Amino acid sequence: MVSSSNPNPPKLPVVVLLSGTGTNFTAIERAASHGSLPIDIRAVLSDRPQAAGLERARSLQLPTVALSPRDYPDRESHDQALIKAIDHYTPHVVILAGYMRILTPTFVAHYANRILNIHPSLLPALKGLHTHQRALDERLTEHGCSVHFVTETLDGGPVIAHAPVPILTTDDAHTLAARVQKAEHRLYPTVLEWIALGRLQCQREQIFLDGSALSQPVRLPGLYE
Ligand code: GAR
Repeated sequence: MVSSSNPNPPKLPVVVLLSGTGTNFTAIERAASHGSLPIDIRAVLSDRPQAAGLERARSLQLPTVALSPRDYPDRESHDQALIKAIDHYTPHVVILAGYMRILTPTFVAHYANRILNIHPSLLPALKGLHTHQRALDERLTEHGCSVHFVTETLDGGPVIAHAPVPILTTDDAHTLAARVQKAEHRLYPTVLEWIALGRLQCQREQIFLDGSALSQPVRLPGLYE
């Protein structure tokens, strides 16, 4: 049988923004370098010069940029500098992978419908920080992570996909976080592949997957196993 799909689709140019360890970046980079994710990571940028994720990027010979907010008088000028640094690499998509600064409306508008984020909860539940402890405190039985398009509303942009994760009676915030992170590392490359293959778009806050408008996030259970 002859397959009509292109075995070597063009690679989607992206940049990654991170503030911390960079395990999501590492998972994305591994999928890309193993050939299962057609993206070209053009640079990794951070607001924290000491971020371990930046070090990891350097060890992979990827270009890195660190822009500390301390070197700028305000949030606007920091984001303007960030835009300039990012645009140098002409990415199509900006991947937030544990980038922990709130973005200005100027930044979000500049990359409208082209910024993705991963968040450790099943959005719209548990926006903000400390989501694993809050899930336990609220005695939820299910937790997980979401990949969404970024808008001006913090953790409020259209959600593409959910990876649900069960909460066990024996869990503490640490064990739960570990299970959610496992799911994150599979969810983010999956969603990026949909975008890279041209299957997923966002227009005026409406997500389309394979030509159909999504009425709710795609649910991908079992990614933590
Ligand atoms: C991830 O768990 C991600 O969901 C979270 O930061 C962590 C970064 O880990 N992001 C947010 O909370 C954004 N609101 P990593 O540096 O190991 O990828």
